[in-house]
Amino acid sequence: MLSRDSCYPIITPYADPVYSEANIRCLNFVRSATDLDNDYTFSFKPAEQLNDVTHFLDLSLVYGSSDQLANNLRAGVGGRMAIDIRRNREWPPSAANKSTTCDITSPNEVCYQAGDVRVNQNTQLTVLQIILLREHNRIADALARINPHWTDETIFQEARRIAIAEHQHISYYEWLPIFLGTSSTYGNNILYDTTDYVNDYDPDVNPNVFNEHATAAFRYFHSLIAGFLDLAKEDRSSNAALRLSTYMNKPSIIEENDNMADLTRGMSFQSEKASDQFFDAEITRYLFRNGKPLGSDLRATDIHRDRDHGLASYNDVREHCGLPRATDFDDFTDYISFENVKKLASLYASPDDVDLAVGGALETHVQGLTGPTYLCIFIKQFYRTRVGDRYWFESGDHKLAFTIEQLNEIRKSSISRLLCDNGDDIVNMQKQGFKKVDSSNPIMSCDNIPSVNLLLWKDFAPELGNHEKSTFPFFKR
Ligand code: HEM
Repeated sequence: MLSRDSCYPIITPYADPVYSEANIRCLNFVRSATDLDNDYTFSFKPAEQLNDVTHFLDLSLVYGSSDQLANNLRAGVGGRMAIDIRRNREWPPSAANKSTTCDITSPNEVCYQAGDVRVNQNTQLTVLQIILLREHNRIADALARINPHWTDETIFQEARRIAIAEHQHISYYEWLPIFLGTSSTYGNNILYDTTDYVNDYDPDVNPNVFNEHATAAFRYFHSLIAGFLDLAKEDRSSNAALRLSTYMNKPSIIEENDNMADLTRGMSFQSEKASDQFFDAEITRYLFRNGKPLGSDLRATDIHRDRDHGLASYNDVREHCGLPRATDFDDFTDYISFENVKKLASLYASPDDVDLAVGGALETHVQGLTGPTYLCIFIKQFYRTRVGDRYWFESGDHKLAFTIEQLNEIRKSSISRLLCDNGDDIVNMQKQGFKKVDSSNPIMSCDNIPSVNLLLWKDFAPELGNHEKSTFPFFKR
């Protein structure tokens, strides 16, 4: 049950151009749970928000963030994750209580269960969840074929380890340089250009996700969201698109017609929107509208969440990041346009009041898709997420390392290959799936996109009979 204090509605102004028309005076907002919610000692200390999921890049969205969920999600045979099969394809299992989890109108509609509760939230996210789930099972099946003596547990742990390693590789080496720009990512030891192990795990680095990262900086990329999702055919032509807000929490659409394939192609072909101060109406007017004419506003929610979490101000974080502290609104003009500074001055009483979620999003980009303050947060975050992870896939620690040959196979993984291997009937992709198709990045046969050779996981100690005696470095994260 929510306590009264959890309610922190977003009050909409009487003259609001959208909500006033519909006589809507406030938007629903529930405060995040904190460590003090059940503290009746009245300790005078700032509350800290609690994280529901693991801090690491460990594919908890697939495997879950608790032992109980992790066990429930497993098939218990062949190292596989539990799935449902329809139309000869693998889909995530059904949520236990479909009507409370999804916005469904009939019990025949699908509603998925995965390692993360947001699995059904938006269509493309769900497609990625399906792809990652299938990737685990694809790897598990290959390992079972290569090593028929392995147990369910052995196959599961190794398949999970490989899937996590691919995910870390793709996130850091394919995706991050686009978002942060290559020079900063290398200059700050976030990435290494090597065919060797990377051994800079530091137990003194706290791998937690910064509140400033999750609640302000990383949400800036909500501006990239396109309101209509192209359904792309094999030749990438598209004569239909799904409206984002119509299918939130309604994943059934993915299993209709060729939508799984068309959405997979569409999301690697359609351009994202610009990384800037503007957000699509599908998320600023229609978020979670569930069939109604209007919904909520994600941008307003992000700003409100910044306040809910009591983040430091834009000015404080600027200073922390080595930029000059503003004493006057005009001092923001070093990275914010004159026009936007004028707006800030009209909306806030002091430069110290400007929210991080607002000021950071107005900065001129200095690298990749972001301005200097958010860039500073990203660099710190992505550094600690890697260096603070004892199980980072490139680690050479003999207790947990891949062999160097296996590691260099993992380094062949790519988002395009992931989509080729696990989408429905995807036969062509551009090699760099996060980048636009053009003459330097043409669509090509999936067969020409490098893949991870799982034969390198052949266990040459089958005569030993079980993994405890095997030479493999089996471990649990
Ligand atoms: C259609 C796509 C998306 C939708 C509908 C969506 C929606 C949401 C919603 C409703 C929240 C929770 C807001 C709150 O109550 O505070 C949220 C949180 C968040 N979103 Fe998105 N989002 C999308 C895509 C993205 C993308 C592309 C990114 C970044 C690349 C992103 C980053 C985040 C982050 C970091 C959080 C905070 C998570 C946390 O604190 O645990 N989202 N999003």
